[in-house]
Amino acid sequence: MWGGRFETGPAEIMEEINASIDFDKRLAAQDIRGSLAHAAMLAETGILSREDVGAISDGLKSILAEIEAGTFTFSRALEDIHMNVESRLREIVGPTAGRLHTARSRNDQVATDMRLWVRDTADALDLQLAGLQQALAEKAQAFAGAVMPGFTHLQSAQPVTFGHHCLAYVEMLARDRGRLRDARARLNECPLGAAALAGTSFPIDRAMTAKALGFDRPTANSLDSVSDRDFALETLSAAAICAVHLSRLAEEITLWMTPQFAFIKLSDAFTTGSSIMPQKRNPDAAELVRGKTGRVLGALQGLLVVMKGLPLTYSKDMQEDKEGVFDALQTLSLCIAAMTGMVRDLEPDTKAMKKWAGAGFSTATDLADWLVRVLNLPFRDAHHVTGRLVGAAAKRGVGLEKLTLAEMQEAEPRITQEIFDVLGVEKSVKSRTSYGGTAPANVKRQAKRWLGQLAKE
Ligand code: ARG
Repeated sequence: MWGGRFETGPAEIMEEINASIDFDKRLAAQDIRGSLAHAAMLAETGILSREDVGAISDGLKSILAEIEAGTFTFSRALEDIHMNVESRLREIVGPTAGRLHTARSRNDQVATDMRLWVRDTADALDLQLAGLQQALAEKAQAFAGAVMPGFTHLQSAQPVTFGHHCLAYVEMLARDRGRLRDARARLNECPLGAAALAGTSFPIDRAMTAKALGFDRPTANSLDSVSDRDFALETLSAAAICAVHLSRLAEEITLWMTPQFAFIKLSDAFTTGSSIMPQKRNPDAAELVRGKTGRVLGALQGLLVVMKGLPLTYSKDMQEDKEGVFDALQTLSLCIAAMTGMVRDLEPDTKAMKKWAGAGFSTATDLADWLVRVLNLPFRDAHHVTGRLVGAAAKRGVGLEKLTLAEMQEAEPRITQEIFDVLGVEKSVKSRTSYGGTAPANVKRQAKRWLGQLAKE
């Protein structure tokens, strides 16, 4: 394709390091879509004859059919997807194929292909995330009042409900979706027509190709168009944050699955056994979601490092954007699918969760709040009194509710029998009615709101 000034072919190792076809063949559909739009524009502007463009377009469509049917032979010697398609086009339509590259370079071509691929994939991720939100919101509705321990520092803090915990992830995923959409909105400008770096002398219509490919507008600076990959970085950043959220949920599922916690059960469908220990049921899917997150984060870091020292405009380094972007976004997609399956599958053990919800003096804050509300103590004093009571209970090895009234009054003489009313975990969660709090009535309302919103999408 560019052999004019060359006398011999590349060294074998040159071909090996240069070729990207093994991974960028994934861009075939996007590449042909872009070429069809470019060709149609070349006809419309009179740069190419309608007859030539007709032949080129038919050829491109039959190439796409060959690729989809698996009959296309990809060649390493032809470097990448762009050259593979063009070379096949030449076999089909003859020298006319060479006219397709008028007013275009592989630099704007690959930038366009990548934007199209990232856009398609981000849209699919958004849909998948809505499905995961749905699964979580349904669990939240079903277990809006199921009391479980809430932790800070992984130490018993205050009782919460399982539904509330599920909805926390629904909120995180909503922000993840927002970030993906924000990235998509900025990505949605078309680099096609920037040519190699400086634009072109042909009277092309960039607005036309942009529109045909579903972009909002053409990019405004040809140098920027072929040299930046921030659209990929931004989408990877959103993907990385989302993967971190999934990883945290995966960690919790793994923890909750231990016989020591035993908060949830996962069925045979989402667990594996051990080849030596017959009693085992391992949460491999959750562990893999947690593990694969490393790859997603690595891809973001990898591309940032590839880009950081590059002068404008295109450098071949940028070919290294592909494997990381493909792998990270597909890995995220797999993780969302596995997580959605696990969330649907998991069964909370409400008895076990409730038992542990009361452990670790988790209603101590309720006690302190009672002292403030009923005895009008300043909160800091109430905190101190409650601390002494927790100390007394710990010394006796019992929960706060097992202290006698006399023991309570040793710490604060005005305490009455009524204080025992606030020490139960059910009471505790029921009282957390502030907006966003864990009261079952709140959780039900929020779950309903989410389910309604997701149904409308
Ligand atoms: N395969 C190349 C890539 O992915 C296409 C662009 C090549 N451009 C060039 N000037 N060699 O980056």
